[in-house]
Amino acid sequence: MQKFIIIAIDGPAASGKSTLAKQLAGKLNYLYVDTGAMYRAITFYALENDFINNHKGLIEAVKNLELELEYENGLTRVFLNGVEVTDKIRTPKVNANVSDISKIPEVRKEMVKLQQKMANNKNLVVEGRDTTTVVFPNADLKIFLTADIKERAKRRYLEYKEKGEDVTLESVEESIKRRDKIDSGREISPLKKADDAIELDTTNLTINQEIENIIKDLKELENKQPSK
Ligand code: DC
Repeated sequence: MQKFIIIAIDGPAASGKSTLAKQLAGKLNYLYVDTGAMYRAITFYALENDFINNHKGLIEAVKNLELELEYENGLTRVFLNGVEVTDKIRTPKVNANVSDISKIPEVRKEMVKLQQKMANNKNLVVEGRDTTTVVFPNADLKIFLTADIKERAKRRYLEYKEKGEDVTLESVEESIKRRDKIDSGREISPLKKADDAIELDTTNLTINQEIENIIKDLKELENKQPSK
């Protein structure tokens, strides 16, 4: 029986998870799953349908919502009930609400189910908070990315600027700090490093150095596994 590999990448907002996970998946030819995009999509849906303060309504709606991810040319395309929302899930408004929506246990339960289903019979790089602790606690390789807050704020700020968003570096730093606090302090699936995750501080690393590090870990893992 073929053994499929799951690499799970966790860590705080703007620590570089997406960039790393995408490139790593591309290099290894694994499927890439961006779980943050799923929580963003639900948040966008809640904003559009007036469910931000009506969690009961949202929970019911999510059960019948069709959420699909397609990864194409470096971009995760996101569809809600067949309608593409890719650009609409990465706005300051979604950012400001996503931590609150992703705290709802029933929403998480639905998302985790969907994520586990995506991993069926596939080699996978999955990225997002709780992927190493709750979604795939038995992942073959677990990476916890960190980077200092100034560096993370700078990275997110440059992303916004590239998209023409009107933000300041200070406001981005504040927003990341707020999200860190909510994400780490929440009761269900808080942001935390799994005991057996490898911590990788990306503050002074290039993306190629990060990938080299992980491929080295993967090779060590393969060498440890008994040959068939
Ligand atoms: O990785 P990101 O910035 O796209 O994630 C957006 C938000 O979604 C983040 O504030 C926390 C939440 N999230 C989560 O609760 N669990 C995940 N597995 C992924 C993201």
